[in-house]
Amino acid sequence: MTKDDVLALLQEREGDYLSGEELARGLSLSRTAVWKAIGQLRAEGYPIESVTRRGYRLLPGGDVLSADGVMKHLRHRELRIEVFPSVGSTNTVLKTLAEQGEAAGCVVIAGEQTAGRGRMGRSFYSPAGSGLYMSVLYRPSSPAADAVRITACAAVAVAGTIEELSGRQAQIKWVNDVLVDGKKVCGILTEASLDCESGMFRHLIVGIGVNTAVPDGDFPEALRGVAGSAFGPAPVPQLRCRLAAGILDRLTDFMEDPGSERCFEAYRARSVVLGKRVTLLSPGREPAEAEVLGLERDYSLRVRLGDGSETRVSSGEVSVRPATDPLTF
Ligand code: BTN
Repeated sequence: MTKDDVLALLQEREGDYLSGEELARGLSLSRTAVWKAIGQLRAEGYPIESVTRRGYRLLPGGDVLSADGVMKHLRHRELRIEVFPSVGSTNTVLKTLAEQGEAAGCVVIAGEQTAGRGRMGRSFYSPAGSGLYMSVLYRPSSPAADAVRITACAAVAVAGTIEELSGRQAQIKWVNDVLVDGKKVCGILTEASLDCESGMFRHLIVGIGVNTAVPDGDFPEALRGVAGSAFGPAPVPQLRCRLAAGILDRLTDFMEDPGSERCFEAYRARSVVLGKRVTLLSPGREPAEAEVLGLERDYSLRVRLGDGSETRVSSGEVSVRPATDPLTF
């Protein structure tokens, strides 16, 4: 592939400038083909500098997503990583693999998703170069109710890894959005295939999307003010590989016991909804105001409704009401 040849030559001469003409001559390509390949490599995260009259040069560092790059930082060597520059949805790719018999521990990562999927049938904005889009396949031998616990573990794994790599504090908005500075930086979509007779999983796919940077030209209008980047503008070398490895290691540790006290406490400590006034949003239902009284061990919320009654909420979403918002109940 042209781009791989251009990369190989730049790597061979790492640190030296190579003019477009030298690259084109050395690889028997047109200057336009070289220029296109440089653009593709940059989109994949290769730090290629270009200087007028000197040419191109590969700089150290960068943020290239590759299976080897993730493996280099991964403790759980039993996981099998596949990296694609672009897919429709990593969850969908992995679902096909799962249905073909792929074993647990397979991880699909992409640098871009053209049909990224979110919860409640929404789409998930997944542009190239500014996010990590990753799905992990499990085949838990536990009942379907564990899906909520596993999703919560994934949120804790993401929050912990962001904190370690960025030094910023991450919070969790029930049930599984990770926030930094009040903006959503990660969404999680857990999808399962169940055996109806036994109520057990056939497979479970945890899909995680993290915004690692503000996209070129900002987030689309509808997401501005809501979505943010988990990391600041200072470059973190090999960010997406280290982020993927950190999340996978933490989540795989938690999978030993997804209902563990350790994960629950880490989740609760980061919860932004506890003690807050919220609006409960459930598909097919009118939004309802409530006050969040507590978090149960099954990750359902204990809430007080407008009529004073207390109930538990285990599905849907919540939006936190501003503290200045007068209670209407
Ligand atoms: C949400 O916030 O609604 C959940 C978003 C989940 C996005 C991730 S990105 C990797 C995986 N593949 C998808 O298509 N979706 C999940």
